[in-house]
Amino acid sequence: MHHGGRPAAGVVDGDRTTPSTRAETMTHPTTTVPRQGGRRPLLPLEDAGRASLFTDARTANRFTDEPVSDAELAELWELARWAPTSANTQPLRVLFVRTDEGRARLAPHMADGNRARVEGAPAVAVLAVDRRFHDRIPEVMPPMAGLRDVLEADPERRQGMAGFSAAMQAGYVVLAARAVGLGAGPLAGFDADGVDAELFAGTSWHAVLVVTLGHPDEGSYRPRMPRLAAEDVVRWA
Ligand SMILES: Cc1cc2nc3c(=O)[nH]c(=O)nc-3n(C[C@H](O)[C@H](O)[C@H](O)COP(=O)(O)O)c2cc1C
Repeated sequence: MHHGGRPAAGVVDGDRTTPSTRAETMTHPTTTVPRQGGRRPLLPLEDAGRASLFTDARTANRFTDEPVSDAELAELWELARWAPTSANTQPLRVLFVRTDEGRARLAPHMADGNRARVEGAPAVAVLAVDRRFHDRIPEVMPPMAGLRDVLEADPERRQGMAGFSAAMQAGYVVLAARAVGLGAGPLAGFDADGVDAELFAGTSWHAVLVVTLGHPDEGSYRPRMPRLAAEDVVRWA
């Protein structure tokens, strides 16, 4: 699984030893010390990894009863959070719903065709953009601390920046789910204002995507639809 014998946790990470990356994310509410990264040669993923992330991976629609643990969900985010965003702003926020009470609050706000998917999923990630994401810029991008005030004064630029990076992060969440062995079903069909009022009242979070998570059952997949050919999509200069 791990290239070059690199362990999943308890890694010696350049300048320090992290006791457990999972425990770290769960106990530290503020920014964590960055992993240095970039010190290993870039290794292409082998075929199995490529298949799990891309070619063989499918959008999951139905799940078995096999539970998804909080540790698995934490592991998912532990991967996704390292992927890049514009000026390292990290505007995405995640609510992991994995109780009957949580599903009952979310499901009524789903589009009719999507409601049963949420009700039948062992876990659901409600992905939100933090409309006050720019308040964290001095912390996450100190060399550009002044960008916070620039964005405070420019709501249109702020919204564009948040929307683009949050959408990228939503993609990372789907790939991270696949990387930890979970099926993911992204769902954009829901009443975002309703979800905000139910789950994010009094916060600056705004729901952008619901992602069901679990172990896909046999009827999980609809027929694969064609992907556009590279010659229709890719140009060269
Ligand atoms: C941003 C996004 C929004 C989606 N919204 C819905 C949705 O509301 N309802 C639904 O049934 N599928 C939804 N899908 C699932 C897509 O139809 C599916 O991922 C796509 O057809 C590819 O399927 P495949 O991965 O099985 O090939 C959504 C997917 C994405 C990425």
